[in-house]
Amino acid sequence: MKILDLGSGSGQDCFVLSKLVGEHGHVTGVDMTKEQVDVANKYIKYHADQFGYSKPNTDFKLGEMEHLSDVGIQDSSLDIIISNCVVNLTADKSVVLKEAYRVLKDGGEVYFSDVYTDTKLSEEARKDEVLWGECVSGALHWKELVELSKEVGFSGPHLVTARPFVVEEHLRKPLGDAQFVSATYRLFKVPESCKTEASRVTYKGTIEESPEEFKFNVHNILTKTPKDVSSDVASVLSASRFSKHFEFQPLEPGTTAPIDDVYIEADPFAYCASNKVAPGACCPKPAKPVEQENGCCPKRAKTGNEARCC
Ligand SMILES: C[S@@+](CC[C@H](N)C(=O)[O-])C[C@H]1O[C@@H](n2cnc3c(N)ncnc32)[C@H](O)[C@@H]1O
Repeated sequence: MKILDLGSGSGQDCFVLSKLVGEHGHVTGVDMTKEQVDVANKYIKYHADQFGYSKPNTDFKLGEMEHLSDVGIQDSSLDIIISNCVVNLTADKSVVLKEAYRVLKDGGEVYFSDVYTDTKLSEEARKDEVLWGECVSGALHWKELVELSKEVGFSGPHLVTARPFVVEEHLRKPLGDAQFVSATYRLFKVPESCKTEASRVTYKGTIEESPEEFKFNVHNILTKTPKDVSSDVASVLSASRFSKHFEFQPLEPGTTAPIDDVYIEADPFAYCASNKVAPGACCPKPAKPVEQENGCCPKRAKTGNEARCC
């Protein structure tokens, strides 16, 4: 697999992926903060040695996720794009999703976590630099993500997990009643030619780390017992890297085809409420305070509040 991490910070997720993709896979991290890229670069050789690779499979590029061609990322060149707690930091989420779509191969996936809100935020909140740096006031309304994904042409967003994200009380004033979640979604690039009918799918149990079930999203946990899935889910499964792990059959005659309503299924607030999910943060606090060479988020660094981040 070839994987790209948008806003890779000091490279921690990239190094986990470096191990997962193996010596012949490749991982690229892109980040706009030089100090972060410098830290990541410092540990490339260390990880290659730890994993026993003859040469590193990871690189880091200083650049903006809105302009991936500036750092040499080609059209249709990647299997997976990941990102953790970064998309909220850009003013133009649409450009980021369009760039992600451009550089993904057909069947490729964006698997990313970010902060979302349930309310349109006030101008005052949007302009608050501290709240922006806290990954709060740049958060999309989750329904905007649904709309943007559709506009760009992705299948999804398919909700994988979510938990409430609590904003510290002293920062809440400009936010009114807005609530926040940290949610992980998957988006897929499914070419028209790969779209299929609703189908009966059976997981073969062939993903080594997950022999019993495959969690596609919070609504579709697929097992060795056949399950009817919507045309959208069947299309993603058959067009993506997951295809070989499934058997596909037509629905039984007379069966009603499942239909997804993305405005219900992708709602992270409903998911948290119905599952009584406990709050968390997008970047959990380290057990011990970490000395940062520079702030994790540029605006946060300006506020001198950087110690909490990542
Ligand atoms: C909250 S940190 C997350 C870092 C990393 N993903 C993690 O989980 O540890 C946000 C990172 O996004 C980077 N960033 C913010 N806006 C960006 C942009 N437009 N293009 C590239 N990187 C960006 C920042 O420099 C910072 O390193």
